[in-house]
Amino acid sequence: MKVVLGKNVEGRYRYWDDIQLVHRTLPEIDFDEIDPSVDLLGHRLKAPIVITGMTGGFPDAAKINGNLAKAAAEVGVAMGVGSERAAILKGQYPESYATVAEYPVPLKFANIGAPQIIPQKPGDRVVGPDDVRAAMALIHADVLAIHLNFLQEMVQPEGDRRARGVLERIGALAAEFPVLVKETGAGISQAVARALRDQKVRAFDVSGTGGTSFAAVEHYRALEQGAVREARVGKTFWDWGIPAPISVLELVPLGLPVVASGGVRSGLDVARAIALGATAAGTAGGVLKAASTGYEETRTELETLVHELKVAMFLTGARTVADLQKAPYVITGESRSWLHR
Ligand SMILES: Cc1cc2nc3c(=O)[nH]c(=O)nc-3n(C[C@H](O)[C@H](O)[C@H](O)COP(=O)(O)O)c2cc1C
Repeated sequence: MKVVLGKNVEGRYRYWDDIQLVHRTLPEIDFDEIDPSVDLLGHRLKAPIVITGMTGGFPDAAKINGNLAKAAAEVGVAMGVGSERAAILKGQYPESYATVAEYPVPLKFANIGAPQIIPQKPGDRVVGPDDVRAAMALIHADVLAIHLNFLQEMVQPEGDRRARGVLERIGALAAEFPVLVKETGAGISQAVARALRDQKVRAFDVSGTGGTSFAAVEHYRALEQGAVREARVGKTFWDWGIPAPISVLELVPLGLPVVASGGVRSGLDVARAIALGATAAGTAGGVLKAASTGYEETRTELETLVHELKVAMFLTGARTVADLQKAPYVITGESRSWLHR
């Protein structure tokens, strides 16, 4: 948290700028009739925006989650919390998550990490169905988000290195709970998404490359700890992963709802994501500064995202999100090279 707020940990290339929506000189709609509402996993959002999971488990997180939840409820968008491992397995600061339950956020995601659903060493207590129930109850969650963060784990000196069996365990949890699988800044490929769909996962949050880089975050943390090798790995893998827009294009044909995230920093980026076929766009790094400042700042940031989205909808003649999903676009730059790989 301190690192993300204090250092530049963004990816070096802005893939969303490669997605250019085609201007429609004659919109033939009124700005006032634009309706950006959308259904995501059976919940109606006033705008196709998800604040993706960030925090919880330490005292100051209560303020951040409270600001986010109050603003998300007011603006009518979805939100997730950060990994609930601290609260569920260690009983640390459950109230820093629970504050989210106080607000009528239209769709809430509980959060656990994939490395915690398998044993990392013999005798480890893994997150099981009862823990998931507790994690969901804590924030009155509608859906469980399971995050994949193996890039981050490889840059952490104390990182979890075991990944065998995660897919099957995700399947076991998805049989009991509505599960969305998310990355944390390195994207999801179509092959992996197919395997997850076979395990009855309900939705994806791509969290592709181009926004917050967890290799960068862990690079700085490793430097602080004097972990020379990991600091070097973080620098080397700073931009590792599948660009967010490419991951969206790979996953949309699978037919499950896709949240497009990783570097979404404006309402125009939200519009670009929807034009590629996503159901909603997600942001974490884009709202963190406002959320750590105050409620008013957080609400203003969300309202600005929605306003910019509506400007893009007007200028493409899209009255609804379904119209925007059909808007013409051009792909340029590095993203174009990825398409022709
Ligand atoms: C401070 C911070 C903490 C995060 N913690 C979590 C987490 O606990 N669980 C999770 O699934 N994702 C976590 N993320 C990842 C985000 O949900 C998101 O996938 C990623 O940051 C890419 O989006 P962005 O470029 O908009 O930041 C965190 C992100 C930030 C910035």
